[in-house]
Amino acid sequence: MFDPLSQAFAQDPYSVYDRLRQSPEPVFLGAMNCHLLSRYEDVESTARNPVMVRSLQAFADDKTIAEQQRQANFHDMPNHEQFVQFSMLERDGEVHRRMRMVVLRAFSKAFIEKHRSMVQNYVNGLLDQVLQYRDIEFVEDLAAQLPGHIIGKILGVPDEDCPLLRVWSEEIVQYFDADRTPENKARAESATRNFYTYLIDQIDQRRKTPTGDLLTTLVQAEKNGELSETELVSTSLLILAGGHGSTIDVLGTGMLALLRNPETLKHLRGNPNLMGTAVQEMFRYDAPLPFFHRYASEDVTVMGQDFPKGTKFGLLYGSANRDSEAFPDAHQFRADRFPNRHVAFGRGAHLCLGNNLARLNLDIIFSTLLQRVASFELRDSEPQFRTGLSSRGLVSLPLRLRPA
Ligand code: HEM
Repeated sequence: MFDPLSQAFAQDPYSVYDRLRQSPEPVFLGAMNCHLLSRYEDVESTARNPVMVRSLQAFADDKTIAEQQRQANFHDMPNHEQFVQFSMLERDGEVHRRMRMVVLRAFSKAFIEKHRSMVQNYVNGLLDQVLQYRDIEFVEDLAAQLPGHIIGKILGVPDEDCPLLRVWSEEIVQYFDADRTPENKARAESATRNFYTYLIDQIDQRRKTPTGDLLTTLVQAEKNGELSETELVSTSLLILAGGHGSTIDVLGTGMLALLRNPETLKHLRGNPNLMGTAVQEMFRYDAPLPFFHRYASEDVTVMGQDFPKGTKFGLLYGSANRDSEAFPDAHQFRADRFPNRHVAFGRGAHLCLGNNLARLNLDIIFSTLLQRVASFELRDSEPQFRTGLSSRGLVSLPLRLRPA
């Protein structure tokens, strides 16, 4: 039906999604071995349905799990199996609830709000550097410099280590896409190994000398018996990796949306209090993580069709967000869209833990940019998107700026 790794799909996935939503039943995608759900109603209700789980462990025997691991090419990578494949995101039910509870408070709206001045100070310093230049490459010079440093500060890892953590994060996230080549597999496994070695050293330091950071909270939870050591490492890794590339990507596509909608940009300059809704619209318009899966833990009926227990479904969050049944003028970027019940952060038990932080980052960076930059100009009229189904982001976004 479509090639998820093609350049054509990368440049315009939305016309493919439009066609998929016309189908009266889920469309099977061989490359990911799953049945695709693309309409808002189906995607949203499946993400909320407790029968639809992230992990086979919730209902399958060891033989079936091993077979699926082989099919997904997730076998023979011991570090990845231990620290990535069984992270909080890949658990369900009680185990998932216990792991999520440990970090839930630190990511609540109220707690994340306490980091506002830290993020603002970091963004101010970053812009002091970047705005010395008229021509910048927005993705690398600006977007990529933010998320790792912020989450690193919250977790408590040294600032100078953040570039390395970004490389490892990207190598791990990349392997969730359809392109599971031996080279990508080797990279994902070695990045996980490096992450483990790095994190266990940081964890040992907190065990000896507790500090006030999130890593210390996690170490404390291990001491109280709320997390095993493996869970402690996998949770830290997930927090560092999960919000890295996704934030970089939505900063790039959000900037592009503003540039392609100059009236909106002008309106936002005059109405800075609209930035919160504009940021939500950036997530809806180009969901940076457009695809996640679920397994049916029982026999289920989806879109009127029966599927046996164990069936794998693909949730196209990126398509649901452009469904005109759920969003008027779904293909238009409207900074004042409200309500905006997009599913870019998922729904239900696995709703993105970092969504308050992601929105705070975007709010601060775009608000500050509009104050400090008088005009933005695209230096490439057709910026390229990276190929892939699981993440959506620009390869680069060359801009010309005129400081205010
Ligand atoms: C910037 C954009 C981000 C997007 C679009 C995004 C999207 C998502 C989505 C869709 C899920 C649910 C996956 C599913 O339905 O199976 C998720 C889960 C998660 N996200 Fe995010 N995320 C972002 C940023 C962050 C950040 C900044 C962090 C951490 C600091 C983070 C940490 C997590 C964690 C830990 C989970 C797993 C939650 C669970 O399983 O209970 N994310 N994210």
